[in-house]
Amino acid sequence: MVLGVVALLALAVGANECAGKPVVFLRWSFLRFVFALNHMGATWQVGDGREKALADYVCAHARPGDVDDAIRVIDDFCYHKKYLINIGDEKGQLLDDAVAAARPQRLLEVGTYCGYSALRIARAMPPDARLHSIEFNAANARIAQRIWDHAGVGERIVVVVGTLGDDDKTIKALREEHRFSPGCLDFLFLDHEKSEYLPDLHRILQHRWLHPGSVVVADNVGYPGAPEYRNFMQQHEGHDWLTRTHRSHAEYQKLIPDTVLESTYLGQTTQPPHVD
Ligand SMILES: C[S@@+](CC[C@H](N)C(=O)[O-])C[C@H]1O[C@@H](n2cnc3c(N)ncnc32)[C@H](O)[C@@H]1O
Repeated sequence: MVLGVVALLALAVGANECAGKPVVFLRWSFLRFVFALNHMGATWQVGDGREKALADYVCAHARPGDVDDAIRVIDDFCYHKKYLINIGDEKGQLLDDAVAAARPQRLLEVGTYCGYSALRIARAMPPDARLHSIEFNAANARIAQRIWDHAGVGERIVVVVGTLGDDDKTIKALREEHRFSPGCLDFLFLDHEKSEYLPDLHRILQHRWLHPGSVVVADNVGYPGAPEYRNFMQQHEGHDWLTRTHRSHAEYQKLIPDTVLESTYLGQTTQPPHVD
C-alpha cells in the first residue's frame, strides 16, 4: 500500500518534471523544500545549496549592472530550477507599487534571504534613497550582497546581520552605526519569522523610528500567516493605522492564496507595549 502510494507520487513528480513543472506541489525542488522545513526553521536555508546556486546562476545569466535582468533571472530560476521563498513576481508587484507610491528616502527591510525583494525595492525607490536590510543568517546576507553587486545596486542597500530581538545588539548598531533616529523611517517591509512581525513592529515603535505617513508592508499575512500582526492592524484601524489588504497568492504558484498588508502609520495614540 505505502509502496504503491510512493510509486504513484514518483510517477506524478516525474511526469510533472518532464512537462516543464506546471504543478508546483509536484516539483521535486518544492517537495525537497517541504521535507526540509525543520532545517529551514533553524537555519533559513533549505540545506541543498540552492541559495548559493541562485547567486551563481544570476552571476552567470543576468546582464551585469541590470537590475531588471537580475529580477527576471531569479524568477526564471524559481519557476524552472529550484523553488525559493522570495516574495515572487506576483506579490513583488504589490511591493513595487507600495514603494513607488510612498516615494521613501529611508527604508528598512526585515528578512533579506537572497536579496530578491531588496532588488525590487531598490528599483522602485527614488535614486537617492537608501535601503537597510536585516538578515539573521550571515550566509544569506553574503549571497544577497553578491547578487546586488552583480545587479549594480550593491551601493544602495546595506545588509545588517542580526535580528531586532537580539538584546539590543542590532538596534544599537542601527542607531549608532547607521544613524537610525526618531522619525527616520519612511518605509518598512516585514518578511521574516512570522511570529516576530508584531514584536519587531513594537520595537520599532518604541524607538519612534516611524513617523505619521510611514508605510509598513507585511508579506505572508495569509500564508503561512501572521495572525497576531493581522489582529493588531484590525484593532488599530482608523486610530493609529490605516491598512489596505491585498489578496494574492503565495510565491511562484496560483493555488495557495496569500495576503499582503500595506499599512500607513497615522501616529501614536497609545503607548506600544514594552518588548525586549
Ligand atoms: C521569507 S525569507 C525573506 C525573503 C525576501 N524578503 C525576499 O522576498 O526576497 C525570510 C528571511 O528572514 C530571515 N529571518 C528569519 N527570522 C529573522 C529575524 N528575526 N530577523 C531577521 N531576519 C530573519 C531568514 O533568515 C530568511 O532569510
